[in-house]
Amino acid sequence: MKIFLDTANLKDIKQAQDMGILDGVTTNPTLISKEQKSFKELVKEICAIVKGPVSAEVVGKTAGEMVKEAEGLVKIAKNIVVKIPMTAEGLKTANSLSSRGIKTNVTLCFSALQAILAAKAGATYMSVFVGRLDDAGHVGMDVVRQIKQIYLNYKFSTEIIVASIRHPLHVVETALSGADIATIPYAVFEKMFKHPLTEDGIEIFLKDWAKVKG
Ligand code: E4P
Repeated sequence: MKIFLDTANLKDIKQAQDMGILDGVTTNPTLISKEQKSFKELVKEICAIVKGPVSAEVVGKTAGEMVKEAEGLVKIAKNIVVKIPMTAEGLKTANSLSSRGIKTNVTLCFSALQAILAAKAGATYMSVFVGRLDDAGHVGMDVVRQIKQIYLNYKFSTEIIVASIRHPLHVVETALSGADIATIPYAVFEKMFKHPLTEDGIEIFLKDWAKVKG
């Protein structure tokens, strides 16, 4: 399973990059709005830190508008992935961009049906939002498991990004499901490497080390 960070915060991205575990980054308009920088400047800086794919989202409503935005985005850096909403116009955009070799991430997917369409349109990545599904009274991970089985049945090459991750168990379940990627908020990422028994263990070892002579 690849680990992406779901953030536009440069400090957090750099931290994960320095640990050598960062496979990519996903952003969205909400995450961009939290940072005090212009969109293009920020995305350029993220792309300079991360070697892997960096998703940047278009905001146009028609395929024409989205394609135009995408053409501007791909000029920013080689590792840009154009993030496109799961609409009829978005699918047209994904189809047009993928036929030109531009990488796409069809986002805001909440069902297996939408995931089938994203794959058939040629999306490089398809993002399914588990947390928001859970919030709406569904079992988000059940949808992920359905999509994984369908993609296996038909050998779709579209990679599954499990997004809207809210807690560490979502990460464990993503790995168990066989989905390709978990895109993780930094607060959840930090919980992955912390464990009270590890901290207790370090404290005990240090205390005992202090008794060692010479
Ligand atoms: C990822 O691509 C999404 O933009 C993100 O995971 C959404 O997460 P949220 O539901 O916590 O806003």
